[in-house]
Amino acid sequence: MVDKFKESLGINSFHYQIPSHANKIPYTLGGITLISLVILFISGFILTQFYNPAVSDANKSISYIKDEVYLGWFIRGIHYWAVQIITVTVSLHLIRVFLTASYKKPREFTWLSGVLLLSLAGGFIFTGTVLKWDQEGYEALHHHLWAMEKLGAIGNIFSSEFSRVNILGRFYTLHISILPILTIFLLSVHVFLIKIHRISPLPSGGEERMVDFTSHIRQLIKYGLFTLLIISIFALIIEPSLGGEPVEGIEVTKPPWMFLWLYSLENIWVYSLIFAPFIIFTPLILLPFFDRNSSIKLGERKTAIAVFIIIFLIMIGLIINGMITSAGHHMG
Ligand code: HEM
Repeated sequence: MVDKFKESLGINSFHYQIPSHANKIPYTLGGITLISLVILFISGFILTQFYNPAVSDANKSISYIKDEVYLGWFIRGIHYWAVQIITVTVSLHLIRVFLTASYKKPREFTWLSGVLLLSLAGGFIFTGTVLKWDQEGYEALHHHLWAMEKLGAIGNIFSSEFSRVNILGRFYTLHISILPILTIFLLSVHVFLIKIHRISPLPSGGEERMVDFTSHIRQLIKYGLFTLLIISIFALIIEPSLGGEPVEGIEVTKPPWMFLWLYSLENIWVYSLIFAPFIIFTPLILLPFFDRNSSIKLGERKTAIAVFIIIFLIMIGLIINGMITSAGHHMG
């Protein structure tokens, strides 16, 4: 009976051989990110039942979630902490993929779909911040509107004037509908390409033991449960911030920590808000097509590794700088 079910559901097709390094932590960071995304989506789905995107009620509805809805504070915490974990695991995943040269032929489009997923993650965090409709959310929106105004015709689509529907409502649609659909589509492409090309070989080379793919699934379930435990512990002990209703015309907050590099650059030159994301994402997109060095050995990729380390250190430096500098006035 069980065997019949397994056959009908195609579970037997999971029995194929993969190299044993696929079960090592660096090679499961994408999987851990995927599991955290599932946790994020489930908690987000519950929150949508209680959140109201009307300007007059958005901030109050979050207070309602955390103060009155049964376990609302916990679900909100899970949603928030899942985002923090995803930011860390997806960054580590990108670093691993870079260091093991897994973006090189034939995995260029796996990398490209990953870069697009990264930009969608940024979109989720940004729109989610605005949804709080406290001072931080309001100022985030104000920054967005300022940038869209400077971008002229293209920016108009994402401005308040484009539609008579309130921009907070449109951000909500982005957050709970458009971004999730795009994410699920790109994730399917990402996973499909990983399956087609198989996991990349270890840069150190050598013969490797092969294991059954189901051992990888078991490993991911183990790490996934551990991640859920970590997210739950954080949700229990540290409540995500929520300010009161926003005050118009002032700039007193800083963005979430993952955007602090941009905030630091804005402090130097306000137009960085528009240019910096392009400067970061263009080389990321082009990397697999422009890196002509076919070697995957660390020692034979000295230039690429050096450039990567420099960019990494600059990003960390800018984030730390953003943490220690006080909130300033940017938008004229
Ligand atoms: C939502 C975000 C992402 C998810 C859920 C995800 C998921 C995964 C998973 C499950 C794997 C299999 C191996 C592993 O776990 O390491 C993988 C591999 C890969 N990912 Fe991602 N990924 C994401 C973002 C990214 C980003 C930002 C990049 C790079 C810019 C990227 C590039 C790649 C590449 C090139 C591979 C193939 C690696 C190899 O064969 O060794 N991914 N991803």
